[in-house]
Amino acid sequence: MLNKIGVIGGGYIGGVLAQEIAKRRLAREVGLVDPAPFVNPDDPPERQEVVGKQSVAIGKCLDISEGLPTIGKDVKLTGSKDYSAIKDADLIINTAGVPRKARPDGTFPTREELLTINLKVTNQVAAGIKEMCPNATVISIANPLDAIVYTLNKALKPAKNKLMGMAGQLDSGRYCYFVAEAANVSVENVNAMVMGGHGDTMVPVRSSCQIAGIPVEKFLDDETLKAIEARTRKAGGEVVGLLGFGSAFVSPAWAALEMAEAIAYDKRKVLPVCAKLEGEYGVDGLFVGVPCILGKNGIEKVLEIDLTADEKAAFERSVGAVRKTCDEVEAMSV
Ligand code: LAC
Repeated sequence: MLNKIGVIGGGYIGGVLAQEIAKRRLAREVGLVDPAPFVNPDDPPERQEVVGKQSVAIGKCLDISEGLPTIGKDVKLTGSKDYSAIKDADLIINTAGVPRKARPDGTFPTREELLTINLKVTNQVAAGIKEMCPNATVISIANPLDAIVYTLNKALKPAKNKLMGMAGQLDSGRYCYFVAEAANVSVENVNAMVMGGHGDTMVPVRSSCQIAGIPVEKFLDDETLKAIEARTRKAGGEVVGLLGFGSAFVSPAWAALEMAEAIAYDKRKVLPVCAKLEGEYGVDGLFVGVPCILGKNGIEKVLEIDLTADEKAAFERSVGAVRKTCDEVEAMSV
């Protein structure tokens, strides 16, 4: 168990994270940071006074705390509008940023289109981590995922093992779910990995997909698998289109918790993680989704697996897309 997990961003994902960390008792303490709601300087003073006293983070922490006697868990939850709640956290999960949201005409932006706005938020996040818990291990969820992790790395310059992004576990979960549904078998039987960037170029790795250790091709034909792989690449958008108010939040939170649990309990679990590559897979200096061993030190090892020629080409295309967004980060930072 960890002493303290800090969650940055008290929106939908942050809320699920705080309650699940308490429920699973992953840490003795949870600190939740969110500046919302913002006081509008154009509002009448009485209204500004009311809003000034409100806090999504403190409210969510109190709500969860008042439920703890019911579930019988002793966990201390602290919320704050500034970064004080994450002081001395061992592990940070960063969710801060604007999510994708369906437009009135039903279309929605790509994750990459969130870059400009979420870059500003990320610079504040980095400053908060630097001030309050510079030695924390960081898992970041905000989008565009790979570029936001890249930005945090620029600002924090942590050791390679201490900074990572959550996307692969979410995307792999989606891939596994679609396979389980099509093959009509338990989700517990399906094992598969999605690699590359967390965008529409992500790579569902068919050669890693097995049902109870048996290659997936024994259960599903090529056409069905191609459709599942295409759906997986667009699965985040499918949820955005259905919800209307934002993006997926339960499955992303659970995926990050899978990573947090592997770190908190030193499980040395193999999970797809957005990790810094320094020559692995022929990539240097970018954060990309690859299988890693997660344990008490964070990323214990980046695993290099064999891919088929098609998978390798798709992975390289996906790395190209990540590089393009990171080049935009560089262009915006000068
Ligand atoms: C998704 C967002 C969270 O894929 O990136 O649903």
